[in-house]
Amino acid sequence: MEKLETLRQEGIAKIEACTSTKELQDVRVLYLGKKGPIQEVMKMMKDLSPEEKPKFGQQVNEIKQLLASKIEEKKVILEEKEVNEKLINEKIDITLSGLKPNLGNLHPLIMVQQELEDLFIGLGYEIAEGPEVELDLYNFERANIPKGHPARDMQDTFYIDADRLLRTHTTAVQMRVLEEKAPSLPIKVVCPGKVYRRDDDDATHSHQFTQLEGLVVGEKIRLSDLKGTLELVAKKMFGDDKKIRFRPSYFQFTEPSVEVDVSCHICGGKGCPTCKGTGWIEILGAGMVHPNVLSMAGYDPKTASGFAFGIGMERVALLKYGIDDIRHLYANDVRFLKTFSRFE
Ligand code: PHE
Repeated sequence: MEKLETLRQEGIAKIEACTSTKELQDVRVLYLGKKGPIQEVMKMMKDLSPEEKPKFGQQVNEIKQLLASKIEEKKVILEEKEVNEKLINEKIDITLSGLKPNLGNLHPLIMVQQELEDLFIGLGYEIAEGPEVELDLYNFERANIPKGHPARDMQDTFYIDADRLLRTHTTAVQMRVLEEKAPSLPIKVVCPGKVYRRDDDDATHSHQFTQLEGLVVGEKIRLSDLKGTLELVAKKMFGDDKKIRFRPSYFQFTEPSVEVDVSCHICGGKGCPTCKGTGWIEILGAGMVHPNVLSMAGYDPKTASGFAFGIGMERVALLKYGIDDIRHLYANDVRFLKTFSRFE
């Protein structure tokens, strides 16, 4: 009985001394598990007289129950203590100002490209791409500019060898599309991409720039279709109140050829420094696809006709966003590029 009393007191003391649920769990295993002081004491049973045995057994059970309920009580207390500690330790100070992630934004040229592509996709065009290292065949010959023709001088070219060059316009992609699709109709494509010319870089010229050229070929496609289409381009890029006008021009692969002006978005047509006092700004070249171009690609110019236009995306970006130097578009100065986040 003395042993039992010691066992009881020791058990209670151990439970009281626990400072964590983990320690308490160890005490529980010790006293209520299969090996431990209680089991040791039970071994003494066999030496007791038959009358003593039930009393002894009952006492042991009582101690077990007592310890079990003490453990439960202690568990509640310790669990609450641990949750409180956790809450304090893991508290987040929401009054601290956070770090702003450094978000990028689209490059102005990409914005212009995406806007134009959206417009043309909406009009049922497909987007076509081609190689930047191009064959003379597609860049010049199929565009009605044979070898030795003076019109080649209009586009000073980076040649790689006698047959290959860096494309000077994405007209080359249009020539590939024509050849691939002939003789099926209609064709409606826009060809965005980088082009290269041997120009000295200055505020308005760059040896590398970006075009988006369009080509439509079908039956009875007319100059008025071209005009209607380019009017949409002008309105989309510069505002709904914009007008366009055609001026006669010359390209080897179109006949007739036109330069297209848009009414000045700065002064509204009254005349200002941006439009050099004329009220108009030149934005692109265009024309009706030359019959030679159609027949070289495998179309019959008597039944097929079409228009083509070429937009310089840098020029659109410069005008649209009021940028004064084309070189800003390539210098990758983050301070410059960041100012375009507000247009996205
Ligand atoms: N390819 C011409 C250029 O790069 C632009 C253009 C395209 C003109 C289509 C007329 C028709 O200057």
